[in-house]
Amino acid sequence: MKISEWRAFSRSVEFLLEAERSVSVRAQAPALAEADLELSLPQRGRGLNEVLARLVEVGLHTPNTASPRFFNQLFGGRIPAATFGDMLAALFNNSMYTYKVAGPHVLIENELLAHMTSLAGFVGGEGTFTPGGSLSNLLAMIVARGEVFDGTREAGMTELKPTIYTSSEGHYSIRKNAGLMGVGRDNVRTVKTDDRGRMLPADLRACIERDLADGRRPFFVNLTAGTTVLGAFDPIPELSEVARAYGLWVHVDGALGGSMLVSPRARERLEGIELADSLTWDAHKTMGVPLTSSVCLLRRRGLLAKHLSESADYLFQDDQPRLDPGQTSMQCGRRNDALKLWAAWQNLGDDGYAARIDRMLDLAAYAAARIRAEPELRLVKTPESVNVCFTVDRAPTEGLCRALVERQRAVVGHAQVNGEAVVRLVCINPDLRESDIDTFFDEILRTAAELRPAAAAPSPAPA
Ligand SMILES: Cc1ncc(COP(=O)(O)O)c(C=O)c1O
Repeated sequence: MKISEWRAFSRSVEFLLEAERSVSVRAQAPALAEADLELSLPQRGRGLNEVLARLVEVGLHTPNTASPRFFNQLFGGRIPAATFGDMLAALFNNSMYTYKVAGPHVLIENELLAHMTSLAGFVGGEGTFTPGGSLSNLLAMIVARGEVFDGTREAGMTELKPTIYTSSEGHYSIRKNAGLMGVGRDNVRTVKTDDRGRMLPADLRACIERDLADGRRPFFVNLTAGTTVLGAFDPIPELSEVARAYGLWVHVDGALGGSMLVSPRARERLEGIELADSLTWDAHKTMGVPLTSSVCLLRRRGLLAKHLSESADYLFQDDQPRLDPGQTSMQCGRRNDALKLWAAWQNLGDDGYAARIDRMLDLAAYAAARIRAEPELRLVKTPESVNVCFTVDRAPTEGLCRALVERQRAVVGHAQVNGEAVVRLVCINPDLRESDIDTFFDEILRTAAELRPAAAAPSPAPA
């Protein structure tokens, strides 16, 4: 790449950042985007400047997830150091399987894993980056399967009848992964939750007992630290006690809430985490790092190599296994998802990250207070994380969320809680101000009023 080419790129980025300042929400129907953008692939290549112009054009049509009106997903906002780290990872283009190819990036990844493992209280533990929380969960499930059912890596799973437990609020990746790994989706039990959305230990025990009586082999319990819709935290000590009594693997899906471990104020939500066998932790959610950056951490060292390593003498040529992480990861060629997190952590430190997490929780609490004060709004649950679920009086939730996007006022999602459609406001961008939250509520109230049928005209007074 020539310096002049980089300069042209950097001018394009500058232009896009300027353009971002004047849009609140950038949402467009697919048909309009298709009409506006020329996306077909050419027979003859185009010059770099034209490609850059097309990239900018795509950028101008791309939903703005860093916007103060974006509340739709479990990510949002931007940490400049992390964005730069990710851009440089693309520039360097290393593959993270060997020190020979990735150099200090392997050491950076090891440093992050050691720090995160220690925050989890997994003394002497280990971990690996994966392409996302779903796959971190899958990895934990695969390791657990191999540990509980000795020899399945070689012999497969014939006749085992294994069963998995997760709560009704757990993430869908658990069921999906059960299908992928040959356990079968039908063999995932849905454990009941309490009124805060937390898994009930008594129901977990009852489900396990039923399966044992049926001749099945329970082996894996998925606890969630920060459920996808409500942000609830399953009680780790009570549930691990039940799981341990039956010799089950305890996994904590902290894709959303794992980062709370960095905050002295918030980490009590994961009390007992050191009792777990494995932990999923997404840095691309509350830690503000560009997608994807996720780790699967294990309490005991040695299991990743035991369940993942393969020999490839053309590739793995270092005497020290820690310098060939390709032996302990799911992929072969692997993107560098560590550098951006390292850059962000360098920039913020543990303290800055703690302040970030605390700020998100404060924003969620602020939003909850605003809902409580508004007669037309009803808070579904007191938020335990960054998710704030509520309903709007006499307004259809789905239609309201759609109208907000269509009228370019805000991007927010909806979900089901106990069979009821609710708005899920995700306060995950700590750079927002309270006034941004206020604007969101002003917009939602305005839109709800517009959607209601005009009030019936008063009937004429009797003569
Ligand atoms: C609790 C939980 N686990 C796992 C996932 C999946 O994470 P990813 O999107 O990184 O695959 C999510 C995503 O929202 C989640 O909320």
